[in-house]
Amino acid sequence: MDKIVVKGNGPIYGKIPIAGAKNACLTLMPVSILCEDTLKLTNAPRLSDVRMMSGLLSSLGCEVISEDEGKTIYLTTKNITNHTAAYDIVRKMRASILVLGPMLAREGNAIVSLPGGCAIGARPVDLHLKALEALGATFELKDGYIFGKCSGRLKGAEFKFPMVSVGATENALMAATLAEGTSVLSNVAKEPEIIDLAECLIKMGAQISGQGSDTITIIGVDSLNSAEHSVIADRIELGTYMLAPVIAGGEVELLGGTRQIVSAFCQKLEDSGVEIEETKNGLIVRRLVSRIKPLNIVTEPFPGFPTDLQAQIMAALCTASGISVLEERIFENRFMHAPELIRMGAKIDVHGGVAKVTGVDVLKGAPVMATDLRASVSLILAGLAAQGETVLSRVYHLDRGYERVEEKLSSCGALIERVSG
Ligand code: EPZ
Repeated sequence: MDKIVVKGNGPIYGKIPIAGAKNACLTLMPVSILCEDTLKLTNAPRLSDVRMMSGLLSSLGCEVISEDEGKTIYLTTKNITNHTAAYDIVRKMRASILVLGPMLAREGNAIVSLPGGCAIGARPVDLHLKALEALGATFELKDGYIFGKCSGRLKGAEFKFPMVSVGATENALMAATLAEGTSVLSNVAKEPEIIDLAECLIKMGAQISGQGSDTITIIGVDSLNSAEHSVIADRIELGTYMLAPVIAGGEVELLGGTRQIVSAFCQKLEDSGVEIEETKNGLIVRRLVSRIKPLNIVTEPFPGFPTDLQAQIMAALCTASGISVLEERIFENRFMHAPELIRMGAKIDVHGGVAKVTGVDVLKGAPVMATDLRASVSLILAGLAAQGETVLSRVYHLDRGYERVEEKLSSCGALIERVSG
């Protein structure tokens, strides 16, 4: 298995292009199930999760054609030829659950493996099922699979989510576009990826309003048509690379980044002594102080501080000039990067969903192990400023959500390379 080797090499300078958002692309691709015509996605990220979703959709009967090294994807589901999303794929990528709503809306029949948990938590799908039941679907759980049905078309309904869920909002939103009548979904997720999904569906003829607010209204239509849609910039990749000059020093311009999609994150960085300058091409980030000030972080649904940037900012706070407190409120087990950072000399005390980080002068390079997607990149960030060499194993976690990390960082002067085998 590949490893990534990082050697602390002082400040970094350069430009990093931000790719299309993984978490937008993984919900935009199943949209293709909702219609017989072709959905063309551009600015798609080149990631293993996107390739996994392509494989899943192909297994259901979707014709998937990639161009431009995978940045452009044509998806055409003339017919659903297989209604089962198999465990072998679903277990590797939880976003597979997002074919459930579109398949029920298109044909009233879907068999999807329960995704099972993952490193960061149990990751149940009860909210997906409750929302789709409100639209008229019925479910039976058997042998680890969800058997979903609805007689005739889904029916528009009102549904208030008991708690905010990105994926469940996406499943219900997609399904409601073809339901008979009007649906009103409340206490929905407001992430930029939800807005991007709605905008793509509207281009295809869906009638949607309220996306980005607490309540989304959908007037069902009989069918959707082909469209072309560009995937929004990845706000989590953006926030991740904004931290590279914060940790290593120097100055980096993030091309395609906008403050609006990472506003809570930017506020915290500025509180810690970081300057963020908006340019016509993106965002320039530079650290104004020798050591950033400590921060208190609480992860929340958008527009709050994103849970997907918690591991990364923890890496930066390991060398802050004081004690920081990070509270993880979205997932029950999302501090697995802490023991690995401790191996690098960090001082972190974790109790339940709260991590106390006492800043140290410097981190030391060490062999470390990736445990999940965002934890893996936090260790690379820590390695940029650590004394000596950091060797990251299990980099397949990294490749799920970051395209060509070593190329992007080494183009700014970081000493980082991928060692195969
Ligand atoms: C999406 O996951 C993202 N994944 C996650 O990104 C992200 O961390 C998460 O939203 C929160 O922003 C994709 O978009 C593919 P949720 P999702 O449903 O939809 C609980 C990354 O690193 N819950 O908003 O699965 C759940 O356990 C990944 O890119 C239920 O209890 O997240 C969690 O505690 C990691 N029942 C909370 O809600 C349900 O039916 C929020 O989960 C669904 C969720």
